[in-house]
Amino acid sequence: MLDEHERGRDLGWATGRHALITGGGSGIGAATARMLAAEGAKVSMLGRRAEPMREIAVEIGGAAIPCDVTDRSAIETAYAEARAANGPIDFLILNAGVADSSPFARTARDTFDRIIATNLTSLFDGAQLALPDLLQGDNKRLVVVASVAGLRGAAFAAPYVASKHGAVGLVKSLALEYARTLLTVNAVCPGFVDTPMTDQSAERIHQATRRSEAEAREALAAMNPSGRLVSADEVAASILHLCHPMSRSITGACLTVDGGATA
Ligand code: NAI
Repeated sequence: MLDEHERGRDLGWATGRHALITGGGSGIGAATARMLAAEGAKVSMLGRRAEPMREIAVEIGGAAIPCDVTDRSAIETAYAEARAANGPIDFLILNAGVADSSPFARTARDTFDRIIATNLTSLFDGAQLALPDLLQGDNKRLVVVASVAGLRGAAFAAPYVASKHGAVGLVKSLALEYARTLLTVNAVCPGFVDTPMTDQSAERIHQATRRSEAEAREALAAMNPSGRLVSADEVAASILHLCHPMSRSITGACLTVDGGATA
């Protein structure tokens, strides 16, 4: 078994920092976990599904902690476990999220509540419960994975768009509230990304129309002016940029990673 020194982790700029990532078992969260670990960070992943997180934890030497982010007391318990494993949180990456699409008139109130709880209320709880860690020590970071849907409207996705606009509002407000501290608060706002969430969107389009799943994926990629899906690694690289010590004057930003969608 290689120790941290033998893996060369002591060379990375994030060496010794504790990065906690929600929804770390797949897509953008998993890519971010791998990239931060490669820079030397100690990584804790929180998420609903234990198995994919455990596989990544074994690969990168991190902690995989089952947690439903819609449950405030579960977050509290999971943070205690993460601190016991890796110390106070330095980088908090609130990434867990869910999407859905349907005409507004046919959107159930339960769907709205579930999406707001997962994509927005969880940010309130996740950020507030980490504050004791984030307000002590240098170069502390809160990064929220929002979306271009946090910056503009989209038909057939009202709850998702509302949740992501809320996420952006929370980020900007916290950035101002903590501007004089050593904590920065930022959002990344991706366009359509090549992750399981987009696979599910393609599947929904396939079910609702006569288009094949491949055609549906192409249609989603075409919504990015670049004509291609963003990769999870590209979004992860932007998250790392915001965590970097040289980014300490970047706060309240919404970094778009969208192939030009908001240009
Ligand atoms: P994903 O589906 O692979 O990742 C979402 C993760 O959140 C999963 O690991 C899932 O298990 C976890 N999660 C969902 N509900 C949870 C809960 N209640 N408690 C704990 N964990 C929960 O998809 P992706 O794309 O990596 O999504 C990550 C973030 O990126 C989400 O917030 C999403 O809204 C955002 N995003 C995704 C885009 C895309 O095109 N895929 C575009 C813009 C933003």
